Parts: sequence; structure tokens; C-alpha cells
Amino acid sequence: MSPDTQKIAAAARRALSDNRQSGTSGWDGKRYDFVCPSGTTYPFQWLWDSAFHAIALSHVDPALAKQELRCLLQGAQPDGFIPHMLLWEKNAHEAALREYSITLLHPYFTSITQPPVLARAIERVYEASGDVGFLRDVLPPTLRFFRWLKAQRDPDDDALIATIQPDESGLDASPKYDAAMGVPWDPPEATLPALTRSMDRLFAEYEPLRGDPARILSLDRFVWEDVMVNTIYADGLRRLGPLCRAAGYPEAEAREFEDRATRVRSALETKCWDEKAGVFWDLSGWREEPARTLTFSSLFPLVLADLDPRKAARLIDEHLLNEREFWLPYPIPSTAASEPTFDPGWRTKTTWRGPTWVAINWYLYWGLREHGRADIATELARRTFEMVERAGMREFFDPRTGAGEGASSFGMSTLVLDLIAAEHLPS
Ligand code: GLC
Repeated sequence: MSPDTQKIAAAARRALSDNRQSGTSGWDGKRYDFVCPSGTTYPFQWLWDSAFHAIALSHVDPALAKQELRCLLQGAQPDGFIPHMLLWEKNAHEAALREYSITLLHPYFTSITQPPVLARAIERVYEASGDVGFLRDVLPPTLRFFRWLKAQRDPDDDALIATIQPDESGLDASPKYDAAMGVPWDPPEATLPALTRSMDRLFAEYEPLRGDPARILSLDRFVWEDVMVNTIYADGLRRLGPLCRAAGYPEAEAREFEDRATRVRSALETKCWDEKAGVFWDLSGWREEPARTLTFSSLFPLVLADLDPRKAARLIDEHLLNEREFWLPYPIPSTAASEPTFDPGWRTKTTWRGPTWVAINWYLYWGLREHGRADIATELARRTFEMVERAGMREFFDPRTGAGEGASSFGMSTLVLDLIAAEHLPS
């Protein structure tokens, strides 16, 4: 039986409304009104989650989608930095600081950033609303952010930006970081405590340099050129060009971002592509050692329309559709089934080690379509609907059975609304 997309869309709309947080913050009396990732486990505003929420909201009410991004951009700093978490609600701070591995740069925001999905979200919200005034308001802090990434996170000037700790990619406990972080995967109960200890050591070393990314990078403690992060960055740069033109910016400014998009894509192809394996690898440390753990990141440049079609075909035919790696009953697993660290049933109680995430399927869905493989995109969407219909808006899913795992009523999973619209199914 085909999935009941009307029922799924209703559940997504309910999650977006249940997760709304609004009020006046102790932070200079700023007003906040946004969708949090999950009311129970994640009551704050996260940078990449909020961008995904805005895309989902553009199918519910473009006004709410605009508000989501305007609220987020209240956290944008004059130098361009945008924090990965805005902790609007003071009452919840104590529990957050106890439960999460985070460090603050300011009483109301963290000291790291997250992938710049923001540009893609602005494009979608602008398309849905046609509101040039909105575009003119949100572009300045967004362009500053993309320039900050270039200025502060590309110290070797190779076009690829580096992250300074695992959760900056959003992929907190991905096994690709295990070697760098000294984290074991066996027994599974040992993984999370070891990662927490390792993060504490990292924080202690960074503490004297907090807020000074250039010096943090020079420590060479955790310098990571991540394929997924750089793909999202290149994709964002590419989309900023037309947005600048629509807002009436000079042509040279639009070109600045588009040219950089090309340079980032080209650096990914030159430095991260492994011709023998037919995948991309993240680069670790100043020595840029390829991190050869097969995760969905290795396939992610598929998202880029200008990726060499021959490489795209190899990613799809040799890996994405490979039943021993990624083409499981409920694809795409965050870590390939062929990896010894593959943890589809969430035994490590930590994230990105095997389960399937709707946001990743969403990005790859559009990448498949860009590369002329709409048939596979449709099948990926269909299996995503099936999984969400049975398990609900969970944080992630067991790729073998589709069983839901992690938080309930999870924001990123509401991206099914965009997939339903893209597939022209009833919502
Ligand atoms: C987890 C995820 C991260 C996300 C956050 C809030 O930490 O790993 O990607 O941003 O939760 O949903």
C-alpha cells in the first residue's frame, strides 16, 4: 500500500506547531519565536535545524518561515560569526549545560558554528514568499557569515573550510571522528562516556583561546575539512549569487560567491576524491590525512549540480545503491553497513553511527534529481514516507527496520513536507 502522505503531512505540521517556543529573553529583552528541534530534549534554537525548519515551514505558512530565520539571525555577530545554538530560555540553561557537551561564548550562545544550510533556506523562503524586503534584511548577516567562514576557517587557503570540533558539523558522534577523538566503538556502552571525556579535554585545551578560531586552528588539535560541511558551504555559495541579484546587489558581489562555490567544488574533487574507492573522504589535521570511514558524507557532493557527472554516477551506482553499504531497506544510513562501527539499533546511545536521518535523505533526494536520477530520488522519498508513517516524526530511524529512535516530534523530520510537495502527492 502506498504511504498516506496526508496523514504524514498532518503529523509534520503538528510537530512544527508543538515545537514552537516564544517569549522575551533575558538577553537584552530580545523577543524569540521559533521552532525548536524537540520540546523535550532540544528546547533551544540550533543553526542548521532552524534552516531545515524554515524550509518545512515554507509549506505551512511563509510568514512563519520568515520569522524562523529572522529569529535565528538575531544571533548573528558583527564579525559574521553565527553560533550553533541560541539558548533563548534562561530557565532551561542549567539542565542544558549539564546534559550537552557545549561551551558558551556568551551567556546566550555557544562558541562554535554549524553547517551553513541558511543560504538554501533563504532561497526557499524567498521563493515561497516573493518578499524582496525579507531578502534585503536577511542577506547582509548571511553574506557576512559566509565571508567569516572563508576568513576564519580556511587558514591554508585551499577553499575548503575546517571545523574545530566534531559537533560543528552537526554530526556529533560520527565514527569518522573516532580515531581523532580517541573513542572506542566496542563495547557500545563505552562510546558515549569516552566521547564526553574527550570533548572535555578538547574544551580544556581550547579554553584560553575561546573565540579566536585562528589560534584554535593553529593548535592542530581537531582541524577537520569535512566533505558534508564543504558541500553545504559550496551549495550555499552557489545559491547566494542569484539571491544577491534578486536583492539588487552589484553583479561583482553575486559573482564573488558563485566563483567561490566553483572553487570549493573543485577543491573537493581535487583533494577529497578517491578514484580507486569512488568516494570522497574528509581530511583530518593540517596534514590532511584522508579519514577513510565510509559514512553518508562520502556521497554528499552529489548535492552539487556541477559535480563531475562521472563521479556522480560512481557515487550512485557503486555506493548509494549498494545493498552492503547504503541501500538498506530504509536508506540512507548515516554510517555504511559495511563499517565495523555501524550501529543501526542505537546501542551506543549516540548519534550518526548508522541510523537514517530525514534531513540527509532530503539533501540527497535533491542531489539525485540534479544528476538526472529522479527515479531513485522518488524511491528514496517513498521509503522515507513509509518509515515516517509507521514511526512518526522521530529524530532518526533504524535503516534495517524503519523503527523510530531518539527524540519524538523532531523538527528536521518535518522536511517530509518538502518531499511530499516535490513528489506532487497530497498533503
Ligand atoms: C544533535 C544532532 C545535531 C543537531 C542537534 C539538535 O546534537 O547531532 O546535528 O543539530 O541534535 O537537533
